[in-house]
Amino acid sequence: MTATIDLGLDLFAEIDRLKRERNAIILAHYYQDPDIQDIADYLGDSLGLSQQAAGTEADVILFCGVHFMAETAKILNPTKTVLMPDLDAGCSLADSCPADQFAAWRAKHPDHIAISYINCSGDVKALSDIICTSSNAVSIVNQLPADQKILFAPDRHLGKHVMQETGRDMVLWPGACQVHEIFSEKQIVQLKMAHTGAKMIAHPECEDDVLRHADFIGSTSALLAYTGKDAASTYIVATEAGILHQMAKLSPHKTFIPAPPNNGCACNECPYMRVQTLEKAYLALRDLKPEITVDPVMAAKALKPIQRMLDMSR
Ligand code: 13P
Ligand code: SF4
Repeated sequence: MTATIDLGLDLFAEIDRLKRERNAIILAHYYQDPDIQDIADYLGDSLGLSQQAAGTEADVILFCGVHFMAETAKILNPTKTVLMPDLDAGCSLADSCPADQFAAWRAKHPDHIAISYINCSGDVKALSDIICTSSNAVSIVNQLPADQKILFAPDRHLGKHVMQETGRDMVLWPGACQVHEIFSEKQIVQLKMAHTGAKMIAHPECEDDVLRHADFIGSTSALLAYTGKDAASTYIVATEAGILHQMAKLSPHKTFIPAPPNNGCACNECPYMRVQTLEKAYLALRDLKPEITVDPVMAAKALKPIQRMLDMSR
């Protein structure tokens, strides 16, 4: 239950004051509510957030995102206090890959290395050789010897996209993100026809049927950068709707249409990302909890493939 907050408090000012008092940094993902995006010291995609976490000199990291992201920040910073406004922020994709099943899958492919998408638990990271994100997966696979056999987990859509981009064969874990799987190909095609000249841009976690209509495919940061420099005036955006806040800020004269889900619900908002609120962020900084904790043995093992990713992304 959320503790009571004086309704007269200016939460933006209070968060700013507490941040300085605690020597804290606020890291946030683009899928957060606009209020949270607006208090972030750094707003970015999964790779950018890991790089910021690896380089920060702050004593406290307030991570506004989902659990695997904050856990990665803690693995990179075992001696720092890593807070998350609400610890109950999971990820359907990470949940689709339990560590014991992943270990059994690896054991069946002893001559393969395992590349795991950062959207997985610390336990799965600890069993992996290299971590990747949507912004560096193609480049990481391209850096490996051509005859290297590869297991790729847990997102099968990103895995398929990487296979198409690199021409490599990989064995894919059958996982998927519930938000990116919900977009309707039919409605996207109808929207494209209704908005002549509009570009469709998509995150590689989307299904192949959606990706094949995309004018540009990229991580959240890459999608944002694309809309900033591209000449079109309208974009159909197939990823979590939170990113539209930054797209509109970067290009206020352009129109951004969230790609429609296939059932008329608000499923293009990630229910896990959206449990974080400004009130909970304030309380976390005020009370220095809830705190992310990790098993040190797991963390030491998981650090190696994360560090390998950072080294291969310079
Ligand atoms: P990126 O921000 O790395 O593109 O990832 C998107 C995502 O689904 C995070 O959970
Ligand atoms: Fe996980 Fe999908 Fe939410 Fe990203 S958008 S945190 S992959 S459920």
